[in-house]
Amino acid sequence: MSNDFYTLKVNGENHQVLDAWTGESLLWVLRERLGFPGAKNACEEGECGSCSVRIDEEIVCSCLVLAGSAIDQEITTIEGLAPEGELGDVQQAFIEAGAVQCGFCTPGLLVTIDHLLEENQNPDDLTVREAISGNLCRCTGYGRILEAVQIAAASRRGENHE
Ligand code: FES
Ligand code: FES
Repeated sequence: MSNDFYTLKVNGENHQVLDAWTGESLLWVLRERLGFPGAKNACEEGECGSCSVRIDEEIVCSCLVLAGSAIDQEITTIEGLAPEGELGDVQQAFIEAGAVQCGFCTPGLLVTIDHLLEENQNPDDLTVREAISGNLCRCTGYGRILEAVQIAAASRRGENHE
């Protein structure tokens, strides 16, 4: 089935998707039709989390979501965490901790961690590990990622991380 257009709300703004099948993956539509390349395409089968975006209050693998099913929902991508081009607190924390190597996993991790910290500004390591268990990183060994989460969490609590 094709439509003349349908509308997706991405990072607070409506975007028309023109002449497209609503059965395309949300990841494809974001990257190739709407110009949001932040979510990465790696496995395309829900295993790696590099394509993670937020739909309303849920983190999803956008490679497994039909774009048409996200109509009328709030989609947040990594671009939405730095709307004016200013890095968000989790992004800053990743830089501070040196938690980025190739960076392929990073957008998905950032979206996931931002969501975690909205719900819990004082997560212990087990909680963080559970939250990011769907985001695979082949490079960092996770130690610096865990450190970055604690830096960002301290920032949200209004504390300096030590
Ligand atoms: S590309 Fe979607 S989970 Fe890997
Ligand atoms: S930094 Fe390379 S996959 Fe995570």
